[in-house]
Amino acid sequence: MDSIIVRGNGPLNGQIPIAGAKNACLALMPATLLSEEPLTLTNAPRLSDIATMKVLLESLGSEVTVMNAGKVLALSSHGATNTHADYDIVRKMRASNLVLGPLLARHHRAEVSLPGGCAIGARPMDIHIDALTLMGAQIELRDGYLHAVAEGGLKGAVVPLRFASVGATENILMAATLAKGTTVIENAAREPEIVDLADCLRRMGAQIEGDGTSRIEIQGVDRLGGATHPVVTDRIELGTYMLAPVFTGGEVECLGGRISLVSAFCEKLDAAGIDVSETSAGLKVRLRGDRPKAVDVVTEPFPGFPTDLQAQMMAMLCLAEGTSVLEEKIFENRFMHAPELLRMGANIEVQGGVATVHGVEKMKGAPVMATDLRASVSLILAGLAAEGETQVNRVYHLDRGYEHLEDKLRAVGANIERVPGR
Ligand code: UD1
Repeated sequence: MDSIIVRGNGPLNGQIPIAGAKNACLALMPATLLSEEPLTLTNAPRLSDIATMKVLLESLGSEVTVMNAGKVLALSSHGATNTHADYDIVRKMRASNLVLGPLLARHHRAEVSLPGGCAIGARPMDIHIDALTLMGAQIELRDGYLHAVAEGGLKGAVVPLRFASVGATENILMAATLAKGTTVIENAAREPEIVDLADCLRRMGAQIEGDGTSRIEIQGVDRLGGATHPVVTDRIELGTYMLAPVFTGGEVECLGGRISLVSAFCEKLDAAGIDVSETSAGLKVRLRGDRPKAVDVVTEPFPGFPTDLQAQMMAMLCLAEGTSVLEEKIFENRFMHAPELLRMGANIEVQGGVATVHGVEKMKGAPVMATDLRASVSLILAGLAAEGETQVNRVYHLDRGYEHLEDKLRAVGANIERVPGR
């Protein structure tokens, strides 16, 4: 297995292009299942999770053609009739569950394997199931699969979510586009990726209002057409690279970034003594003074502070002046980066969903490994500031969510290389 070696070496300066959002693209790709006509996605990120979704869609009978070195995906589900999403693919990636809503909407049936747990928590699917049941589906769990049937098709309904789940909102949004009548999602997730999906579905002919708020109204239509849609900027990749110059000094401009994608994050950066300015091309970031200051962080659904930036923020706060408290409210087990950061000399206490970080002046390089995507990148960031060499193992996590990570960081002056595994 490959590993990445980072050596702390001073300021980073220059520009980093930010890719299209992984999480948006993973929801947009299954939208092909709703239509007989082609869907073209531009600004797609080149990531292994996208390749996994391609394999899943192909297993369902869709055609997925990768063009422009991976930046354009041409999808067609003309004649795709398979409704069985197999465990062997679904278990690799939870977002595979996003085929459930579209399959049920178009074919009135679906058999989708439950994704199973993952390193950051149990992650059940009860919210998806309850909502689709309210829309007339009968869903039962047999042999590890959700068997869903909607005789005569899905029907519009008022669907209150007990929690503003991103995946459930996306599944219901897609399902409701072809349901009979009006669906209202109450307590809907408000993430930019939901708005992006709604924009794409509207281009395909769907009637949707209220995306970006907690009440989304969808008027079902008989059929959806084709569309070409650009994937929204990845706010998590953006936030990750915005932190890079805080670890090293210097000034980095993240191309394609906008404050509206990361406003809660920017508020915390400002409180920590970090300047963020919007330019015509993106966001410029630099640290005021020598060290960031401690800040407290609570993760929340959008527009709150994103759980997917918590690990990176913790790595930064390890080097801040003072003590910070981080509370993780979305996932029950999302501090696995803390013991690895301790190995690099950080001072962190974890109790349940709360981590207390006492800032230290310096961290030291060490061999580390991580069990999820965002945890891995937090260790790379820490390595940029650490004395000596940090070897991050299990790089396949990084390849799920960061395209050309080493190239992007090396281009602004980082000393980073990938070492092929044996
Ligand atoms: C999406 C993102 C992920 C991000 C997360 C929260 C994608 C592909 N992934 O994941 O990167 O960290 O949003 O912003 O977009 N839950 C239930 N029952 C359900 C559904 C969810 O209890 O039916 C719980 C989960 O276990 C978790 C919380 O709700 O604790 C948030 O999950 P959800 O918003 O659904 O996240 P995902 O869509 O899986």
